[in-house]
Amino acid sequence: MLRQSSIIGITAAVILLLVRVGYSKDLRTVTEPKTPQNCTTLKATSGDDTKTIQNALDTCTKGKAVKLSSGTFYSGPLTIPSGISLLVDSGATLKALPDPSLYDMGEETCGTIDKYGVGCKPFITIRDASGSGIYGKGTIDGQGQKKMTGKTESWWQLANNANRSTVQNAPRLLQINNSADITLYQITLQNAPFYHVVSSRTNGLTVWGVTIYAPPSSRNTDGIDPSGYNITIAHCNISTGDDDVAIKAKIAPARHISVLNNHFGKGHGMSIGSEITYGVSDVTVSGLTLDGATYGLRIKSNSYRGGLVTGVTYTNVCMHNVQQPILLDTRYENYLTGNLTPQFHDVTFTNVKVLTAGTFTFNGFSDSKPVQATMEDVHIKKGSKWITKYAKITGTWAEDVTGTLCGYAGNE
Ligand SMILES: *[C@@H]1O[C@H](CO)[C@@H](O)[C@H](O)[C@H]1NC(C)=O
Ligand SMILES: *[C@@H]1O[C@H](CO)[C@@H](O)[C@H](O)[C@H]1NC(C)=O
Ligand SMILES: *[C@@H]1O[C@H](CO)[C@@H](O)[C@H](O)[C@H]1NC(C)=O
Ligand SMILES: *[C@@H]1O[C@H](CO)[C@@H](O)[C@H](O)[C@H]1NC(C)=O
Ligand SMILES: *[C@@H]1O[C@H](CO)[C@@H](O)[C@H](O)[C@H]1NC(C)=O
Repeated sequence: MLRQSSIIGITAAVILLLVRVGYSKDLRTVTEPKTPQNCTTLKATSGDDTKTIQNALDTCTKGKAVKLSSGTFYSGPLTIPSGISLLVDSGATLKALPDPSLYDMGEETCGTIDKYGVGCKPFITIRDASGSGIYGKGTIDGQGQKKMTGKTESWWQLANNANRSTVQNAPRLLQINNSADITLYQITLQNAPFYHVVSSRTNGLTVWGVTIYAPPSSRNTDGIDPSGYNITIAHCNISTGDDDVAIKAKIAPARHISVLNNHFGKGHGMSIGSEITYGVSDVTVSGLTLDGATYGLRIKSNSYRGGLVTGVTYTNVCMHNVQQPILLDTRYENYLTGNLTPQFHDVTFTNVKVLTAGTFTFNGFSDSKPVQATMEDVHIKKGSKWITKYAKITGTWAEDVTGTLCGYAGNE
């Protein structure tokens, strides 16, 4: 009897584990996106093209795309309607005009610093939409480095003036809210005045073969900050001045997220947090290479933004020149305190190679709320620093890595 029930117990545990592994990802079947046909083709005028582009988007047939064919387009804020896409062809660039008054939300705070930082509209908004996207081998440029119209500084200089108690009012490059089945394919996004791509309450987001670039000195230029369900980020090349990817759960949960075969250059790496109040779970990061990032795999929160992060799997990751390859920190920006408890459970590192010495930190919340992680096939460089506090780490790792090249994972 006893024997049988323990066999049943083990079988149940194995099935549970398989279910957990099987579901810790985007639940959709995601394949390489196909660029929609164009409903119209626009040519740049070198003047302000906002009205022309917005009108084309508003009158396009559902399922089709407005194509920007060549040259440099200048525009203020744009909204991509439900079912419509924007296609920026190779050789075409869409630049965000650096005039704060175009993005202002009505309080005349866009382009200034205040306590809230919510005074600007995004450059591109996708809201309450289904089946919209941005495609093409062209570029969307936020011009974060450009001096703001009527001001003496650029969006990025403004960001540098903000401090612990203030926030810059600067536009995000792309905001996706309350939407479903959204696609970003092949496009290059660069030099956002603030974050590049943010999704909120979005169900079904595919970011595939996208390049995101901002210089390492540009503050808060996060690459992709996804939140929602069923999200895939694949074959992207991201280098920024802040988190390359940061999964967040500030106003709703973030679950079933796959981050597959990407390459990150400079920036703050692959992050979860710090806003995790509604919980982050079922995340798979696989086939990631990082070269030159400040952080590698990071989960960060504090008692002001805390919540539960669980079911996170990192597999086949290689890092080179990363200062802090793994950092699980429940006391991030610890000047922000509240009564939420950041807890990180069921975090697994499998086949992780770190080719250069760095600092590995596991900083749990308390003795009764430790961070829990499992290591399998983790190889790091001799001379690395290992810091643990309130941490339960199972499995093994070894300071035995050799070689100096990661390659580019699945990224071409
Ligand atoms: C995620 O995708 C799966 C498969 O398409 C679907 O069944 C599920 O409802 C989606 N999740 C949510 C929260 O919509
Ligand atoms: C779509 O793009 C192609 C190639 O640029 C062009 O030949 C065609 O006229 C466009 N169709 C429309 C409806 O604009
Ligand atoms: C932040 O900057 C503002 C001016 O922009 C200044 O009044 C305030 O004292 C600064 N706060 C901190 C914490 O440095
Ligand atoms: C998107 O949603 C967030 C969170 O509710 C909100 O703060 C933001 O204003 C929304 N942005 C747009 C462009 O709708
Ligand atoms: C990634 O993008 C950078 C430019 O930002 C480029 O120099 C590099 O070659 C790209 N790498 C890959 C693998 O595409």
